Amino acid sequence: MNILVTGGAGYIGSHTCLEMLNENYKLVVYDNLSNSSLDALKRVEKLTGKEVKFIEGDLLNVEKLEQVFQNERFDAVIHFAGLKAVGESVEKPLEYYDNNVVGTLNLLKIMQKYNVKKIVFSSSATVYGVPEKLPLTEESPRSTTNPYGTSKLVIEYILEDLAKSDPEWKIISLRYFNPVGAHKSGEIGEDPNGIPNNLLPFISQVAVGLRDKLNIFGDDYSTKDGTGIRDYIHVVDLAKGHLAALKCMTDATEKGFIPINLGTGNGYSILEMIKAFEKASGKTIPYEVVKRREGDVAECFADTTYAYKKLGWKAKKSIEEMCADAWKWQSTNPDGYRS
Ligand code: NAD
Ligand code: UD1
Repeated sequence: MNILVTGGAGYIGSHTCLEMLNENYKLVVYDNLSNSSLDALKRVEKLTGKEVKFIEGDLLNVEKLEQVFQNERFDAVIHFAGLKAVGESVEKPLEYYDNNVVGTLNLLKIMQKYNVKKIVFSSSATVYGVPEKLPLTEESPRSTTNPYGTSKLVIEYILEDLAKSDPEWKIISLRYFNPVGAHKSGEIGEDPNGIPNNLLPFISQVAVGLRDKLNIFGDDYSTKDGTGIRDYIHVVDLAKGHLAALKCMTDATEKGFIPINLGTGNGYSILEMIKAFEKASGKTIPYEVVKRREGDVAECFADTTYAYKKLGWKAKKSIEEMCADAWKWQSTNPDGYRS
Protein backbone atom coordinates (compact mmCIF):
# COMPACT_ATOMS: atom_id res chain seq x y z
CA MET A 1 0.00 0.00 0.00
CA ASN A 2 1.23 3.47 -0.90
CA ILE A 3 0.34 6.04 1.76
CA LEU A 4 0.64 9.82 1.70
CA VAL A 5 1.60 11.09 5.15
CA THR A 6 1.11 14.83 5.63
CA GLY A 7 3.11 16.19 8.56
CA GLY A 8 5.06 12.93 8.67
CA ALA A 9 8.30 14.59 9.85
CA GLY A 10 6.67 15.72 13.12
CA TYR A 11 6.54 14.06 16.51
CA ILE A 12 3.65 11.63 16.03
CA GLY A 13 4.18 11.41 12.26
CA SER A 14 7.79 10.23 12.52
CA HIS A 15 6.88 7.52 15.06
CA THR A 16 4.01 6.38 12.84
CA CYS A 17 6.23 6.32 9.74
CA LEU A 18 8.65 4.05 11.60
CA GLU A 19 5.92 1.56 12.52
CA MET A 20 4.50 1.65 8.99
CA LEU A 21 7.87 1.02 7.34
CA ASN A 22 8.34 -1.95 9.66
CA GLU A 23 5.08 -3.30 8.19
CA ASN A 24 6.31 -2.69 4.64
CA TYR A 25 4.04 0.20 3.69
CA LYS A 26 5.36 2.54 0.98
CA LEU A 27 5.36 6.13 2.21
CA VAL A 28 5.43 9.61 0.76
CA VAL A 29 5.81 12.32 3.41
CA TYR A 30 4.60 15.84 2.57
CA ASP A 31 5.69 18.35 5.21
CA ASN A 32 6.69 22.02 5.19
CA LEU A 33 9.09 21.43 8.14
CA SER A 34 7.54 24.41 9.96
CA ASN A 35 7.69 22.50 13.25
CA SER A 36 9.99 19.59 12.52
CA SER A 37 13.34 18.46 11.25
CA LEU A 38 14.20 16.26 8.31
CA ASP A 39 16.64 14.51 10.66
CA ALA A 40 13.68 12.75 12.25
CA LEU A 41 12.94 10.96 8.97
CA LYS A 42 16.63 10.26 8.33
CA ARG A 43 16.75 8.53 11.71
CA VAL A 44 13.57 6.61 10.89
CA GLU A 45 15.26 5.39 7.70
CA LYS A 46 18.34 4.37 9.66
CA LEU A 47 16.29 2.50 12.27
CA THR A 48 14.19 0.63 9.72
CA GLY A 49 16.71 0.25 6.89
CA LYS A 50 13.93 1.48 4.55
CA GLU A 51 13.39 4.61 2.52
CA VAL A 52 10.81 7.36 2.89
CA LYS A 53 10.07 9.56 -0.09
CA PHE A 54 10.09 13.12 1.28
CA ILE A 55 8.58 16.17 -0.38
CA GLU A 56 9.03 19.53 1.31
CA GLY A 57 5.75 21.31 0.70
CA ASP A 58 2.90 23.21 2.28
CA LEU A 59 -0.75 22.17 2.25
CA LEU A 60 -1.52 25.76 1.34
CA ASN A 61 0.50 25.33 -1.88
CA VAL A 62 -2.21 23.69 -3.98
CA GLU A 63 -0.12 23.32 -7.15
CA LYS A 64 2.68 21.51 -5.35
CA LEU A 65 0.24 19.27 -3.50
CA GLU A 66 -1.57 18.39 -6.71
CA GLN A 67 1.73 17.50 -8.39
CA VAL A 68 2.24 14.86 -5.70
CA PHE A 69 -1.09 13.24 -6.63
CA GLN A 70 -0.24 13.48 -10.34
CA ASN A 71 3.02 11.61 -9.78
CA GLU A 72 1.84 8.91 -7.37
CA ARG A 73 -1.17 6.69 -6.87
CA PHE A 74 -2.14 6.57 -3.17
CA ASP A 75 -4.30 4.00 -1.40
CA ALA A 76 -4.90 6.29 1.58
CA VAL A 77 -3.76 9.44 3.35
CA ILE A 78 -2.75 9.90 6.98
CA HIS A 79 -3.17 13.57 7.76
CA PHE A 80 -1.02 14.82 10.66
CA ALA A 81 -0.07 18.24 9.27
CA GLY A 82 -1.31 21.08 11.40
CA LEU A 83 -0.36 23.72 13.93
CA LYS A 84 -0.96 22.62 17.52
CA ALA A 85 -0.01 25.25 20.11
CA VAL A 86 -3.12 26.30 22.02
CA GLY A 87 -1.76 29.63 23.34
CA GLU A 88 -0.43 30.63 19.91
CA SER A 89 -3.81 29.81 18.36
CA VAL A 90 -5.46 32.36 20.67
CA GLU A 91 -2.99 35.01 19.47
CA LYS A 92 -3.07 34.05 15.80
CA PRO A 93 -6.50 32.55 15.07
CA LEU A 94 -6.44 33.36 11.35
CA GLU A 95 -3.11 31.59 10.90
CA TYR A 96 -4.50 28.52 12.67
CA TYR A 97 -7.75 28.40 10.69
CA ASP A 98 -5.85 28.99 7.46
CA ASN A 99 -3.23 26.35 8.08
CA ASN A 100 -5.42 23.70 9.68
CA VAL A 101 -8.84 24.18 8.06
CA VAL A 102 -7.90 25.57 4.63
CA GLY A 103 -4.93 23.19 4.46
CA THR A 104 -7.26 20.24 5.08
CA LEU A 105 -9.81 21.52 2.53
CA ASN A 106 -7.08 21.75 -0.10
CA LEU A 107 -6.04 18.19 0.67
CA LEU A 108 -9.60 16.82 0.57
CA LYS A 109 -10.42 18.55 -2.73
CA ILE A 110 -7.34 17.08 -4.40
CA MET A 111 -8.02 13.65 -2.88
CA GLN A 112 -11.53 13.77 -4.32
CA LYS A 113 -10.23 14.84 -7.73
CA TYR A 114 -7.77 11.93 -7.82
CA ASN A 115 -10.28 9.49 -6.35
CA VAL A 116 -8.33 8.78 -3.18
CA LYS A 117 -11.12 8.48 -0.61
CA LYS A 118 -9.56 7.02 2.51
CA ILE A 119 -8.18 9.32 5.19
CA VAL A 120 -7.04 8.99 8.80
CA PHE A 121 -7.24 12.39 10.49
CA SER A 122 -5.34 13.57 13.61
CA SER A 123 -8.09 14.88 15.83
CA SER A 124 -7.81 15.50 19.55
CA ALA A 125 -9.58 15.04 22.86
CA THR A 126 -9.72 18.83 22.76
CA VAL A 127 -12.94 18.46 20.69
CA TYR A 128 -14.71 17.38 23.89
CA GLY A 129 -14.12 20.83 25.45
CA VAL A 130 -14.92 20.75 29.16
CA PRO A 131 -16.05 17.17 29.87
CA GLU A 132 -19.53 16.83 31.36
CA LYS A 133 -19.07 13.16 32.21
CA LEU A 134 -16.05 10.85 32.40
CA PRO A 135 -14.76 8.72 30.82
CA LEU A 136 -15.22 10.41 27.45
CA THR A 137 -16.90 8.27 24.81
CA GLU A 138 -17.07 9.06 21.11
CA GLU A 139 -20.67 10.18 21.70
CA SER A 140 -19.76 12.73 24.39
CA PRO A 141 -20.83 16.26 23.39
CA ARG A 142 -18.31 18.30 21.48
CA SER A 143 -17.32 21.90 22.12
CA THR A 144 -14.11 23.87 22.20
CA THR A 145 -12.35 26.49 24.29
CA ASN A 146 -9.74 27.88 21.88
CA PRO A 147 -9.09 28.38 18.13
CA TYR A 148 -6.83 25.31 17.91
CA GLY A 149 -9.63 23.13 19.28
CA THR A 150 -12.18 24.83 17.05
CA SER A 151 -10.02 24.17 13.99
CA LYS A 152 -10.06 20.44 14.85
CA LEU A 153 -13.82 20.45 15.42
CA VAL A 154 -14.52 22.34 12.18
CA ILE A 155 -12.42 19.78 10.30
CA GLU A 156 -14.44 16.96 11.92
CA TYR A 157 -17.67 18.65 10.74
CA ILE A 158 -16.25 18.97 7.22
CA LEU A 159 -15.24 15.29 7.22
CA GLU A 160 -18.67 14.22 8.46
CA ASP A 161 -20.43 16.20 5.72
CA LEU A 162 -18.08 14.81 3.10
CA ALA A 163 -18.75 11.24 4.24
CA LYS A 164 -22.51 11.88 4.08
CA SER A 165 -22.26 13.33 0.58
CA ASP A 166 -20.44 10.37 -0.95
CA PRO A 167 -20.54 6.82 0.46
CA GLU A 168 -17.20 5.98 -1.13
CA TRP A 169 -15.34 8.00 1.53
CA LYS A 170 -13.86 6.15 4.50
CA ILE A 171 -12.78 8.58 7.17
CA ILE A 172 -11.34 7.73 10.55
CA SER A 173 -10.88 10.63 12.96
CA LEU A 174 -8.50 9.59 15.72
CA ARG A 175 -9.04 11.65 18.85
CA TYR A 176 -5.68 11.54 20.63
CA PHE A 177 -5.55 12.05 24.37
CA ASN A 178 -2.08 13.09 25.67
CA PRO A 179 0.71 11.61 23.53
CA VAL A 180 4.05 11.34 25.36
CA GLY A 181 7.27 9.33 25.31
CA ALA A 182 9.53 8.38 22.44
CA HIS A 183 10.77 5.39 20.45
CA LYS A 184 12.73 3.06 22.72
CA SER A 185 15.92 3.55 20.67
CA GLY A 186 16.11 7.16 21.91
CA GLU A 187 16.74 8.20 18.28
CA ILE A 188 13.45 10.00 17.69
CA GLY A 189 11.22 11.93 20.09
CA GLU A 190 9.39 15.14 20.77
CA ASP A 191 11.40 18.26 19.98
CA PRO A 192 9.34 21.33 20.87
CA ASN A 193 10.31 24.79 19.67
CA GLY A 194 11.14 27.15 22.54
CA ILE A 195 9.48 26.72 25.93
CA PRO A 196 7.41 23.51 25.96
CA ASN A 197 3.66 23.98 26.56
CA ASN A 198 3.04 20.37 27.48
CA LEU A 199 3.84 18.67 30.76
CA LEU A 200 6.16 15.80 29.83
CA PRO A 201 8.49 17.78 27.54
CA PHE A 202 8.73 20.41 30.29
CA ILE A 203 9.56 17.83 32.97
CA SER A 204 12.15 16.26 30.62
CA GLN A 205 13.86 19.62 30.12
CA VAL A 206 13.96 20.20 33.89
CA ALA A 207 15.47 16.75 34.40
CA VAL A 208 18.19 17.36 31.84
CA GLY A 209 19.03 20.76 33.36
CA LEU A 210 17.69 23.01 30.60
CA ARG A 211 15.12 24.54 33.00
CA ASP A 212 15.22 25.17 36.76
CA LYS A 213 11.82 23.94 37.82
CA LEU A 214 8.38 22.93 36.72
CA ASN A 215 5.41 25.20 37.35
CA ILE A 216 2.40 23.13 38.37
CA PHE A 217 -0.70 24.92 37.13
CA GLY A 218 -2.89 24.64 40.22
CA ASP A 219 -3.25 22.07 43.01
CA ASP A 220 -6.76 23.05 44.04
CA TYR A 221 -8.74 20.95 41.57
CA SER A 222 -11.20 18.44 42.96
CA THR A 223 -8.97 15.50 42.00
CA LYS A 224 -7.17 12.86 44.10
CA ASP A 225 -4.24 15.16 44.94
CA GLY A 226 -5.56 18.49 43.68
CA THR A 227 -3.52 18.52 40.44
CA GLY A 228 -4.86 18.00 36.91
CA ILE A 229 -5.50 14.48 35.63
CA ARG A 230 -4.87 13.38 32.05
CA ASP A 231 -4.82 10.23 29.96
CA TYR A 232 -1.17 9.99 28.87
CA ILE A 233 -0.54 7.59 26.00
CA HIS A 234 2.81 6.33 24.70
CA VAL A 235 3.46 7.69 21.21
CA VAL A 236 4.39 4.21 19.93
CA ASP A 237 1.01 2.85 21.06
CA LEU A 238 -0.57 5.81 19.32
CA ALA A 239 1.43 5.11 16.14
CA LYS A 240 0.18 1.51 16.17
CA GLY A 241 -3.38 2.84 16.44
CA HIS A 242 -2.87 4.42 13.00
CA LEU A 243 -1.87 1.09 11.50
CA ALA A 244 -4.98 -0.47 13.00
CA ALA A 245 -7.06 2.35 11.48
CA LEU A 246 -5.54 1.77 8.03
CA LYS A 247 -6.31 -1.94 8.27
CA CYS A 248 -9.86 -1.17 9.37
CA MET A 249 -10.36 1.00 6.27
CA THR A 250 -9.42 -1.83 3.92
CA ASP A 251 -12.46 -3.74 5.21
CA ALA A 252 -15.07 -3.29 2.48
CA THR A 253 -17.95 -2.96 4.94
CA GLU A 254 -16.45 0.08 6.69
CA LYS A 255 -17.62 3.44 5.46
CA GLY A 256 -18.51 6.96 6.51
CA PHE A 257 -17.04 9.12 9.25
CA ILE A 258 -15.73 7.11 12.21
CA PRO A 259 -14.41 8.97 15.28
CA ILE A 260 -12.24 6.88 17.63
CA ASN A 261 -10.61 7.77 20.96
CA LEU A 262 -6.94 6.87 21.27
CA GLY A 263 -6.10 6.86 24.96
CA THR A 264 -5.32 4.31 27.66
CA GLY A 265 -8.44 4.87 29.73
CA ASN A 266 -6.30 5.68 32.81
CA GLY A 267 -5.91 9.09 34.35
CA TYR A 268 -2.70 10.19 36.11
CA SER A 269 -2.16 13.38 38.10
CA ILE A 270 0.73 15.78 37.60
CA LEU A 271 2.28 14.69 40.91
CA GLU A 272 2.07 11.05 39.82
CA MET A 273 3.78 11.89 36.54
CA ILE A 274 6.56 13.75 38.36
CA LYS A 275 7.12 10.77 40.62
CA ALA A 276 7.21 8.33 37.70
CA PHE A 277 9.65 10.55 35.83
CA GLU A 278 11.91 10.91 38.86
CA LYS A 279 12.02 7.14 39.18
CA ALA A 280 12.76 6.62 35.48
CA SER A 281 15.48 9.27 35.31
CA GLY A 282 17.01 9.13 38.79
CA LYS A 283 16.71 12.95 38.83
CA THR A 284 14.78 15.18 41.20
CA ILE A 285 12.22 17.44 39.54
CA PRO A 286 11.94 20.69 41.52
CA TYR A 287 8.52 22.25 41.19
CA GLU A 288 6.41 25.15 42.35
CA VAL A 289 2.64 25.35 42.42
CA VAL A 290 1.38 28.41 40.57
CA LYS A 291 -2.13 29.50 39.60
CA ARG A 292 -4.31 27.49 37.24
CA ARG A 293 -3.69 27.82 33.49
CA GLU A 294 -6.64 29.38 31.70
CA GLY A 295 -8.67 26.90 29.68
CA ASP A 296 -7.45 23.81 31.60
CA VAL A 297 -9.88 21.16 32.75
CA ALA A 298 -9.49 19.24 36.02
CA GLU A 299 -9.73 15.79 34.58
CA CYS A 300 -9.85 14.12 31.17
CA PHE A 301 -9.58 10.46 30.20
CA ALA A 302 -10.92 8.20 27.50
CA ASP A 303 -13.38 5.38 27.29
CA THR A 304 -11.40 2.98 25.09
CA THR A 305 -14.11 0.38 24.52
CA TYR A 306 -14.92 1.49 20.99
CA ALA A 307 -11.27 1.61 19.85
CA TYR A 308 -10.87 -2.01 20.87
CA LYS A 309 -14.16 -3.07 19.31
CA LYS A 310 -13.58 -1.25 16.02
CA LEU A 311 -9.81 -1.56 15.60
CA GLY A 312 -8.87 -4.44 17.88
CA TRP A 313 -6.34 -1.95 19.26
CA LYS A 314 -5.41 -1.26 22.85
CA ALA A 315 -2.63 0.85 24.37
CA LYS A 316 -0.13 -1.42 26.12
CA LYS A 317 2.64 0.75 27.53
CA SER A 318 2.72 1.91 31.16
CA ILE A 319 3.60 5.37 32.47
CA GLU A 320 6.92 3.90 33.63
CA GLU A 321 7.74 3.09 30.00
CA MET A 322 6.48 6.48 28.81
CA CYS A 323 8.78 8.26 31.27
CA ALA A 324 11.77 5.95 30.67
CA ASP A 325 11.55 6.41 26.88
CA ALA A 326 11.01 10.18 27.14
CA TRP A 327 14.09 10.33 29.37
CA LYS A 328 16.23 8.24 27.02
CA TRP A 329 15.39 10.57 24.13
CA GLN A 330 15.89 13.76 26.18
CA SER A 331 19.11 12.66 27.88
CA THR A 332 20.77 11.48 24.66
CA ASN A 333 19.46 14.46 22.65
CA PRO A 334 19.33 17.36 25.14
CA ASP A 335 18.84 19.85 22.30
CA GLY A 336 16.53 17.63 20.30
CA TYR A 337 17.51 17.15 16.65
CA ARG A 338 20.04 19.99 16.99
CA SER A 339 22.07 17.81 19.39
P1 NAD B 1 4.14 18.28 15.07
O1 NAD B 1 4.11 19.76 15.04
O2 NAD B 1 5.34 17.61 15.59
O3 NAD B 1 3.82 17.70 13.62
C1 NAD B 1 3.02 18.37 12.69
C2 NAD B 1 3.78 18.41 11.37
O4 NAD B 1 2.98 19.07 10.38
C3 NAD B 1 5.10 19.17 11.47
O5 NAD B 1 6.12 18.36 10.92
C4 NAD B 1 4.87 20.42 10.65
O6 NAD B 1 6.05 20.87 10.03
C5 NAD B 1 3.82 19.95 9.65
N1 NAD B 1 2.95 21.00 9.11
C6 NAD B 1 2.22 21.92 9.81
N2 NAD B 1 1.52 22.68 8.96
C7 NAD B 1 1.78 22.24 7.70
C8 NAD B 1 1.34 22.62 6.41
N3 NAD B 1 0.52 23.65 6.21
N4 NAD B 1 1.81 21.94 5.33
C9 NAD B 1 2.66 20.90 5.52
N5 NAD B 1 3.11 20.50 6.70
C10 NAD B 1 2.68 21.16 7.79
O7 NAD B 1 2.84 17.81 15.88
P2 NAD B 1 2.44 16.37 16.41
O8 NAD B 1 2.49 16.42 17.88
O9 NAD B 1 3.18 15.33 15.67
O10 NAD B 1 0.90 16.36 16.00
C11 NAD B 1 0.45 15.79 14.78
C12 NAD B 1 -1.04 16.07 14.64
O11 NAD B 1 -1.73 15.54 15.78
C13 NAD B 1 -1.41 17.55 14.60
O12 NAD B 1 -2.45 17.73 13.68
C14 NAD B 1 -1.88 17.85 16.01
O13 NAD B 1 -2.80 18.91 16.05
C15 NAD B 1 -2.54 16.53 16.38
N6 NAD B 1 -2.58 16.31 17.84
C16 NAD B 1 -1.41 16.35 18.56
C17 NAD B 1 -1.44 16.15 19.93
C18 NAD B 1 -0.17 16.22 20.73
O14 NAD B 1 -0.25 16.34 21.96
N7 NAD B 1 1.01 16.14 20.17
C19 NAD B 1 -2.66 15.89 20.58
C20 NAD B 1 -3.83 15.84 19.81
C21 NAD B 1 -3.77 16.04 18.43
C1 UD1 C 1 -2.98 20.59 25.98
C2 UD1 C 1 -3.93 21.44 25.20
C3 UD1 C 1 -4.78 20.55 24.31
C4 UD1 C 1 -3.89 19.68 23.42
C5 UD1 C 1 -2.96 18.87 24.33
C6 UD1 C 1 -2.02 18.00 23.57
C7 UD1 C 1 -4.36 23.40 26.62
C8 UD1 C 1 -5.39 24.13 27.43
N1 UD1 C 1 -4.75 22.22 26.11
O1 UD1 C 1 -3.74 19.71 26.77
O2 UD1 C 1 -5.63 21.33 23.50
O3 UD1 C 1 -4.68 18.80 22.64
O4 UD1 C 1 -2.19 19.79 25.14
O5 UD1 C 1 -1.08 18.76 22.87
O6 UD1 C 1 -3.26 23.88 26.44
N2 UD1 C 1 0.87 21.37 33.25
C9 UD1 C 1 1.58 21.99 34.29
N3 UD1 C 1 2.72 22.64 33.99
C10 UD1 C 1 3.23 22.73 32.72
C11 UD1 C 1 2.51 22.11 31.67
C12 UD1 C 1 1.33 21.45 31.98
O7 UD1 C 1 1.16 21.93 35.44
O8 UD1 C 1 4.27 23.38 32.52
C13 UD1 C 1 -0.36 20.62 33.58
C14 UD1 C 1 -1.61 21.15 32.91
O9 UD1 C 1 -2.23 22.12 33.69
C15 UD1 C 1 -2.44 19.84 32.79
C16 UD1 C 1 -1.39 18.74 32.62
O10 UD1 C 1 -0.17 19.29 33.13
O11 UD1 C 1 -3.14 19.60 33.98
C17 UD1 C 1 -1.17 18.33 31.17
O12 UD1 C 1 -0.93 19.51 30.41
P1 UD1 C 1 -0.56 19.47 28.84
O13 UD1 C 1 0.56 18.52 28.62
O14 UD1 C 1 -0.35 20.88 28.37
O15 UD1 C 1 -1.84 18.82 28.16
P2 UD1 C 1 -3.37 19.27 28.20
O16 UD1 C 1 -3.59 20.44 29.09
O17 UD1 C 1 -4.18 18.06 28.46
